[in-house]
Amino acid sequence: MASSCSCNTVNFKAASFHPNKPLAPTPSHLLPTSKPSQLASISLRLNQNPLQTTHFRKSKAVPGFQVVASGQKGEPLRVMISGAPASGKGTQCELITKKYNLVHIAAGDLLRAEVAAGTENGKRAKEFMEMGKLVPNEIVVMMVKERLAQQDSQENGWLLDGYPRSESQATALKKFGFVPDIFILLEVPEEILVERVVGRRLDPVTGKIYHLTYSPPETEEIAARLTQRFDDTEEKVKLRLLTHNSNVESVLSLYEDQIVKVDGTLPKEEVFSEIDSVLTELLTKKGAAVGSLAA
Ligand code: AP5
Repeated sequence: MASSCSCNTVNFKAASFHPNKPLAPTPSHLLPTSKPSQLASISLRLNQNPLQTTHFRKSKAVPGFQVVASGQKGEPLRVMISGAPASGKGTQCELITKKYNLVHIAAGDLLRAEVAAGTENGKRAKEFMEMGKLVPNEIVVMMVKERLAQQDSQENGWLLDGYPRSESQATALKKFGFVPDIFILLEVPEEILVERVVGRRLDPVTGKIYHLTYSPPETEEIAARLTQRFDDTEEKVKLRLLTHNSNVESVLSLYEDQIVKVDGTLPKEEVFSEIDSVLTELLTKKGAAVGSLAA
């Protein structure tokens, strides 16, 4: 079962990863600086398939540091994040974008925006979302492709959340030339997912994701304005899980060389620390991240 987890640590599935090697010393370009004005975009020069030629180690992230700039203009970082409903994709994307300045493109968010705008596509999409099914490709494929093709995604790099979810979506992306450098898979067992969905709340003002138990709102004012997604019921998440389980293997098989599995049952900060390590290693190995900033 794709959404179950048998480990407590990052599982580096890609053959070129070496989790047991000693930690690399902190490169000088990741040392702190007090010059936020150095901010630019993260850029990274990559081979066609960097994970086949690059060796990664599991190392501790550098807490309190933000890799934010590149002095070399190169090909920017391209990240996919996947996992079952409520595995923590959106939560991790908040943390990743904050540090790495990638453009976060969430298929579910794009669709909910269409629903909220009351467009024809939105009305049709909602029928499928209500049933926990995949929204048809004729609605979702071009929507995501167009967002990926925009200038900010091309310049800063992208973080694609919840897409592709089927073999046909993955094949279409490849055909359009969108290939990730890394494919992060969050693993969380199903019994935990249901509890996460039912307790999830969203702040419509900041877009921040909360959980009534695991990540409660900071103030009474925020608590009072929280909303719940229309598909966040136990009944609907079970349907979403069925859809996920019937598609996930075919998608994973297309990204075998880029997959990094992460234990999504850990506290969100620890999950991020694992992801951060991998992304930092990726940047460090390529030697393209030349700026940094103390958080
Ligand atoms: P989408 O919006 O993508 O929903 P999903 O995949 O079901 O994922 P979620 O957003 O529910 O969860 P998440 O993994 O982001 O978890 P989160 O971080 O919020 O898709 C919705 C629908 O749109 C689909 O059903 C489909 O109909 C359609 N759709 C989307 N993409 C499509 C595509 N490609 N093709 C066709 N149709 C598509 O976390 C969940 C909760 O857990 C939160 O409360 C959070 O605070 C908490 N939490 C997170 N991490 C932790 C942690 N480590 N420990 C404890 N609690 C945690």
